[in-house]
Amino acid sequence: MAVVARCWWPSRGLLSPSRAGSGISALAALPPRLQQHRQVHHALIPHGRSGRSSVSGIVATVFGATGFLGRYVVNRLGRIGSQVIIPYRCDQYDLMYLRPMGDLGQLLFLEWDCKDKDSIRRAVEHSNVVINLVGKEWETKNFSFEDEFVNIPRIIAQVTREAGVETLVHISHLNANMKSPSKYLRSKAVGEKTVREELPDAIILKPSEMFGREDRFLNHYANMRWFGGVPLLSMGKKTVKQPIYVVDVAKAIINAIKDPDAKGKTYALAGPNRYLLYDLVEYIYAVSFRTFFPYPLPRPLYHLIARCFEINPFEPWLTRDKVDRFHTTDMTFPDLPGLEDLGIQPTPLEQKAIEVLRRHRRYRWLEAELEEAKPAKTYSM
Ligand SMILES: NC(=O)c1ccc[n+]([C@@H]2O[C@H](COP(=O)([O-])OP(=O)(O)OC[C@H]3O[C@@H](n4cnc5c(N)ncnc54)[C@H](OP(=O)(O)O)[C@@H]3O)[C@@H](O)[C@H]2O)c1
Repeated sequence: MAVVARCWWPSRGLLSPSRAGSGISALAALPPRLQQHRQVHHALIPHGRSGRSSVSGIVATVFGATGFLGRYVVNRLGRIGSQVIIPYRCDQYDLMYLRPMGDLGQLLFLEWDCKDKDSIRRAVEHSNVVINLVGKEWETKNFSFEDEFVNIPRIIAQVTREAGVETLVHISHLNANMKSPSKYLRSKAVGEKTVREELPDAIILKPSEMFGREDRFLNHYANMRWFGGVPLLSMGKKTVKQPIYVVDVAKAIINAIKDPDAKGKTYALAGPNRYLLYDLVEYIYAVSFRTFFPYPLPRPLYHLIARCFEINPFEPWLTRDKVDRFHTTDMTFPDLPGLEDLGIQPTPLEQKAIEVLRRHRRYRWLEAELEEAKPAKTYSM
């Protein structure tokens, strides 16, 4: 406690590492008498060699940190020496893998309930950046897509504004569109609009489908071999995809936070190449050294199969909405800034597919070089 009394704690800023270990309750317990002395704690001024033991000056609350993209974002924040507040709703043993991603005392975990405004306020009140990665691929009896992509972003944006946090990063989807057949994408479009209305300065990032080790895109198609082949609407010849590497999206988030000109902008993030869905799935099977057996399936029949997955009591591997989303052609936004504007060179799928797909190979092909698989045919307009 003597340490705390000697330091002047900022009204919004880093926490004492000695207190950080005791969790977020330390955040709420900061004595107001000490706060009024100084607005900026020296620890908020970036210093050091920009490694994990330096100070980046970023104190970020990451909602949805326990998801696929979340782990890459926390990792990127941790490695430049940021303090990260991680609201979670899962069992705390399920987020153990996040703990080594930051220096000692730099990651703070806090239980939150998206319907409890106070818990959101507690999570953001000491941060200077808020990142919203909350999402779900399917609706549950507790949370509809509207809750996930409109109501939760609205309340996070509201609280961020009220708490006076300077930067909010909201993750939408490249194909977010009110006219989309997918409810997920329609809700994303409404969510974007809602966040903009609540906080005009918010930074909105619209990534296409992301690939990476834990993805639900390349892995999804690779796992379809268990069902005897890959059903595709119109054989995947009418759908064009432009997937993006998850690490590029995480880097884009960090660069957008650091860029003062990014405030209020919407970024369209996509990979460097466009592929016909058919060619993409063929490539997935080539890299996995598995037999590619595609067959056309009419949408109503595909929906019927997806419905069977939906009504099972476990997490649905396939939903009708996912069928529609995966068969939606990725939109292009020539007028919106993209990855290059954030100083990032997009990573080609061919360079990283092996990372994701090696585990789908049989033992005898485990070490085979990536070059043995023919590159995917790219699609040009
Ligand atoms: N994956 C893609 O290819 C892709 C493409 C474009 C855009 N996006 C968007 O990018 C964002 C991140 O995607 P992701 O793939 O990382 O998603 P994800 O793996 O499904 O993770 C979503 C996160 O949100 C949390 N969450 C969901 N519903 C919640 C609720 N009601 N209350 C509290 N927490 C909740 C989850 O917590 P639990 O772990 O406790 O469930 C998890 O931490 C999402 O908004 C997604 O729509 C994703």
